[in-house]
Amino acid sequence: MIILVGGEKGGTGKTTLSTNLSAMRANAGKDVLLVDTDQQSSAAYWCGTRDENKIQPRISCVQYFGKGFVGQIKDLSRRYDDVFIDAGGRDSTELRDSFLISDLVVIPLSPSQYDIWTLSRMHDLVEKSTGFNQELRVLIVINRASSNPAIKESADAKKALEEFGHLILSKAVIKDRIAFRKGVPNGLGVTEQTPIDEKAVSELAVLYSEIFP
Ligand SMILES: Nc1ncnc2c1ncn2[C@@H]1O[C@H](COP(=O)(O)OP(=O)(O)OP(=O)(O)O)[C@@H](O)[C@H]1O
Ligand SMILES: [Mg+2]
Repeated sequence: MIILVGGEKGGTGKTTLSTNLSAMRANAGKDVLLVDTDQQSSAAYWCGTRDENKIQPRISCVQYFGKGFVGQIKDLSRRYDDVFIDAGGRDSTELRDSFLISDLVVIPLSPSQYDIWTLSRMHDLVEKSTGFNQELRVLIVINRASSNPAIKESADAKKALEEFGHLILSKAVIKDRIAFRKGVPNGLGVTEQTPIDEKAVSELAVLYSEIFP
């Protein structure tokens, strides 16, 4: 399966989710490739650190930009069980190309970013892509939600998404938690850290089970 974690907004949690989902999938015994299409190389650094620290299971990572992206990634995907693509937070050829070859697009959305503009651009991109990629599924995931129960971010997001039929709101709500930052310098995912943050793990598990039912 090819899973793009993308979106045009910067800093929404694309690298956080793509690295964590890769680690969870690898720990489930799957051969995982993480494709970093962002010149910032955050996912590639995470993978490199993981290798330096000899963390098992190993996750393969490639950085790929520019021409030939579709062919290269499709070709690579035949050699792995699952491919996660971490796309940088801007409109790019790699982001558009990834929509054409992915089975699933996961778009993290920060609570402050329910603006129609972002969602309608993503919706347009999905509509354009479904001509080539009819099976494409798109999940919007709220990330960095407040842990204050009085703040009803999911309800607001659901309302904002009503007019965009192709965009499905994930049942997972990922909250703003230290655990999502803690393991990064060591190349670890949230599910691999000790002590374990059960709440963070269970939030990710909801997303994981929607992607891999
Ligand atoms: N749920 C979370 N809880 C706490 N911190 C988070 C969470 N998600 C992301 N962060 C932090 O927010 C920052 C931005 O996240 P991340 O780098 O994953 O975003 P991005 O979408 O990949 O950004 P870019 O568009 O620059 O590639 C990072 O410092 C990350 O550790
Ligand atoms: Mg990133």
